[in-house]
Amino acid sequence: MKRILLTIIFAAAALNAGAKNITVNTPNTTLLLTAEQDKAVYVQYYGDRLEDASQAVNAQIRKTPAYPCFGYGKEFFNSIALSVVHSDGDLGTDLRYVSDSYNEKDGIHDWVITTKDSKHNFEVDLCYRTYDNCDVLEMWTVIRNGEKKPVTLEKFASAALPFRQGDVWVSHIHGKWASEGYLTEEPLNKGVFEVSDIACPKNAFLNRPNIMLSLDGKPKENSGRTVGAVLCWSGNFKMTVNTNFESCHYLVCGINETGSRYTLGKGESFTTPALAMVYSNEGKGGVSRNYHRWARLDGKIHNGQALRKTLLNSWEGVYLNVSQDGMERMMDGVQALGGELFVMDDGWFGGKYKRSVDNCALGDWVTDGEKLPDGVPSLQKAAEERGLKWGIWIEPEMTNTLSELYEKHPDWVICNPGRDVVCGRGGTQLILDMSNPAVQDFVFKVVDDIMTETPETYYIKWDCNMEVYSVGSSYLSADRQSHLYVDYHLGLIKTLERIRAKYPDLVIQNCASGGGRINYGLMPYFDEFWTSDNTDAEQRLFIQWGTSMFFPTCAMAQHVSASPNHQTGRSLPLKFRFDVAMTGRLGMEMKPSDLNEEEFEFARNAFSTYKEIRPIVQQGDLYRILSPYEDHGFASEIIVAGDKSEAVFFAYKFRQYANQQDWPVFRFDGLDPDAKYTLTELNRINSPEAWEGKTFTGRFLMNTGLELKLKGVYSSCVIKCTEVRN
Ligand code: GLA
Repeated sequence: MKRILLTIIFAAAALNAGAKNITVNTPNTTLLLTAEQDKAVYVQYYGDRLEDASQAVNAQIRKTPAYPCFGYGKEFFNSIALSVVHSDGDLGTDLRYVSDSYNEKDGIHDWVITTKDSKHNFEVDLCYRTYDNCDVLEMWTVIRNGEKKPVTLEKFASAALPFRQGDVWVSHIHGKWASEGYLTEEPLNKGVFEVSDIACPKNAFLNRPNIMLSLDGKPKENSGRTVGAVLCWSGNFKMTVNTNFESCHYLVCGINETGSRYTLGKGESFTTPALAMVYSNEGKGGVSRNYHRWARLDGKIHNGQALRKTLLNSWEGVYLNVSQDGMERMMDGVQALGGELFVMDDGWFGGKYKRSVDNCALGDWVTDGEKLPDGVPSLQKAAEERGLKWGIWIEPEMTNTLSELYEKHPDWVICNPGRDVVCGRGGTQLILDMSNPAVQDFVFKVVDDIMTETPETYYIKWDCNMEVYSVGSSYLSADRQSHLYVDYHLGLIKTLERIRAKYPDLVIQNCASGGGRINYGLMPYFDEFWTSDNTDAEQRLFIQWGTSMFFPTCAMAQHVSASPNHQTGRSLPLKFRFDVAMTGRLGMEMKPSDLNEEEFEFARNAFSTYKEIRPIVQQGDLYRILSPYEDHGFASEIIVAGDKSEAVFFAYKFRQYANQQDWPVFRFDGLDPDAKYTLTELNRINSPEAWEGKTFTGRFLMNTGLELKLKGVYSSCVIKCTEVRN
């Protein structure tokens, strides 16, 4: 007995003496962490899947702290993820490994490593999650205050990861209204690279919380070791890469701490948002396809596997001039075109203040009886009679100084206490304070009332047209004013969870003056997003390309609008406009009655074609081929069905250069090299090309390709590839 006990004690001591490997695997990648009792947890390796973790250990790859903390020890000078003022004023945090656990359920794997400060009763769980169906690795932390008094979190990032220094490039997305989603790529030089935002609640307008690092030089679409980092957060964010004279580029991502110092009372905890990482050997395309699969299959986009309906949205057709008759005429148009859903945009509401100008009535979600005397339910019925689903626009987190809501609840808006309000759109718009539970109830009720009055409502366009100009809350106490930016989003998410619990099948579009809120903090509650207020098909090539780096086609709302375009004044052929819109969720944003007879017929056929290829376009794997950002005036991509039996290829010419010699041969991608495919041109307006109806191997199409006759600027070509099985 004594001997057995001694053996057990000896075995435990031996285990404690050495570092333990914690292997966090996805199907093709490994994050290797090492942990040792009473020491910090380290990242040892992140890359191709290791079947034998000791390789990375034996290769002596340098370890870096998994969650570097400020203020104590020799390792915080590189970059920090956590900075805490402890209850006794101590600025140092020294997290040491305590224990770890692993769980698997339904193909989802979870690891939790618990660490504790060496002096205070202050704990941090390092959490890791992976999935069987993609190579996404989510990392976040749970921070617990077990101290006797409150502590203050000065910085509380989600995670940190090192990448060996070299010819490493960063790809990131930036923009502004009507030009969001632009892709920028640059080498990482010495110093700190930062992409961040404080435009709460529109956190993705200027910069987006997602970047890629290409580890093998200039970013390539389909080759090269490439890493993606996506912060699943709808509030202010910060992603930095610190490149100093150490051996690593050091990535730290999380909530932006500016103006967001966060107090944790005794016994309180804080969960940081997930940082979703991808590592791929297949370049940017490989990273994108992993995020797309994760979004569709793992619930990161609401109802990600459902096919999205084609629609007509009233905004660019009539703007605020909504009327019963006007809506019904647009419904007639979309019905005749073969569309499936009609959405009434802004302009339908207002009691005392009427929404005929964009400076009033937000918050007063009652039908404007002058414009719509028969009410909204009658419009839903009118849609139903035409075989159409019904959708409606709201902007529930907002109000105007000219509104009954603001007159009743001036304390519900975000504003520095004791200062004048600073207004947005129309000189009157204000943001409701989502940290306030009464406001959360109100926002829930906006949706609930619509669903109660018109239960058959199929779709809601949820807009958000303002950022915070005056930071303060009448609800939060003086010592918690700096919680506003964070609590706004926690309140919003709580409200969306309530809405989703009651209305799981309602289709909701995420819109923020276009693509101002395209982030994975919100998308689990939204089925799609309005990609941009800019519907000019040429600019959309750039916007959609950039957006597709991280978001799947099924979520990208892409509408054909009038020519000349309302944002740029550019005139484009209808075929080009359709061919560009058909790579995502197709819709229209114009009066169908403005199409002439020939155009109408083209549009009708295009809607019907789209419905046939919809499963491929919305659920397939995207391979970007020729980038519009490379200055040759062409763009192309292909979307391939999961089993590679079908694909749709898109090519565009959008610049005309005199005497252009370098006529590209369009090579396909993503096909099965050994399969044979028959080609059919879709949306064809010219006589058939030589390849029409002919059969080619995937290998030929990918290695040799086709010389497409794109005649003139703004010509385009869509080709369906169908596998021939004999
Ligand atoms: C925002 C949206 C538009 C439209 C208007 C309505 O700008 O992005 O699509 O809904 O609001 O006011």
